Amino acid sequence: MTQTALPAAAAGTWQLGSLTVNRLGFGAMRLVPFAGGTSADRERALTVLRRALELGVNHIDTAAFYFTPEFSSNEMINTALSPYADDLVLTTKVGPGRDPSGEFLPFARPDQLRGQVEENLRQLARDHIDVVNLRIGTGLGRGTGSIAEHFGALAELREAGLIRELGISNVGPEHLAEALAIAPVVCVQNQYGLTAVREDDELLRLCGEHGVAFVPWFAVASGQTDETGVEERVATVAKRHDATSAQVRLAWTLAQGDHVLAIPGTGNPDHLAQNVAAAQLRLTADDLAELDGA
Ligand SMILES: NC(=O)c1ccc[n+]([C@@H]2O[C@H](COP(=O)([O-])OP(=O)(O)OC[C@H]3O[C@@H](n4cnc5c(N)ncnc54)[C@H](OP(=O)(O)O)[C@@H]3O)[C@@H](O)[C@H]2O)c1
Repeated sequence: MTQTALPAAAAGTWQLGSLTVNRLGFGAMRLVPFAGGTSADRERALTVLRRALELGVNHIDTAAFYFTPEFSSNEMINTALSPYADDLVLTTKVGPGRDPSGEFLPFARPDQLRGQVEENLRQLARDHIDVVNLRIGTGLGRGTGSIAEHFGALAELREAGLIRELGISNVGPEHLAEALAIAPVVCVQNQYGLTAVREDDELLRLCGEHGVAFVPWFAVASGQTDETGVEERVATVAKRHDATSAQVRLAWTLAQGDHVLAIPGTGNPDHLAQNVAAAQLRLTADDLAELDGA
């Protein structure tokens, strides 16, 4: 099977700066029973990672702070996938950190970011990280305040060759403008989904104008907090396409623009296959209008 025939390639590719990724990727947070992660089964998690690549996934999002006392997402990525395929893009995030007992540490100072990047390098056994997101804020909502010093510190690490490309996470339009004035930005990673958080509609559009990928998290999980009746519309559209609700949510995400990528997270091999297959699901204009409640 050629690379382009693999399911994850069906929604096309996007350039994260110098790096080409299939728009349908994978998020590693749910491999670990941390922050709602659902897989407490190491072997199953390793299977999910290997299967993701077999299905054509070549963009995996991770973090050094996705760990439990038993295992970590970075270590499992290293175990399951190294030696790494040439086209595999690993994206991590820095800013937040957890001590060995799992307690979150205070947000990193700019001079601590090098240590966090090196921690990811060690755990992933790489000599550079493909993409590093500066993830601001401590909760789920957007972070506030200037990111100039922190992003400047990461730009220096990029110049030094430890990082190939830079992104920002949990940010507003003001942060994108600030970062772009310092160094190239290849992605913005924010919470965004059909049901829950649409406050970033404008930021998503702005990213497209700048050729910056918009990479939502909770694209599937936003359905778990549905209070607006969207799920019923999702179910109707899903039935029409003989698809699942998760697939419709992912197809809706990918339909928001060529620069919008998906990184659904799961510890379940069946859900992985379903999610990757969503790259092939084409929603019609009527479907999209219905989902948006027009
Ligand atoms: N930058 C940030 O601040 C930030 C924050 C959070 C996450 N992230 C990244 O973004 C990635 C995506 O976010 P996420 O993993 O939280 O959310 P998600 O992919 O939107 O949803 C994951 C949740 O949905 C379930 N799920 C996934 N596929 C499903 C399917 N086909 N059918 C039914 N349920 C399904 C998963 O459970 P199962 O395991 O049972 O499938 C899990 O509970 C994360 O993995 C992480 O890498 C970044």
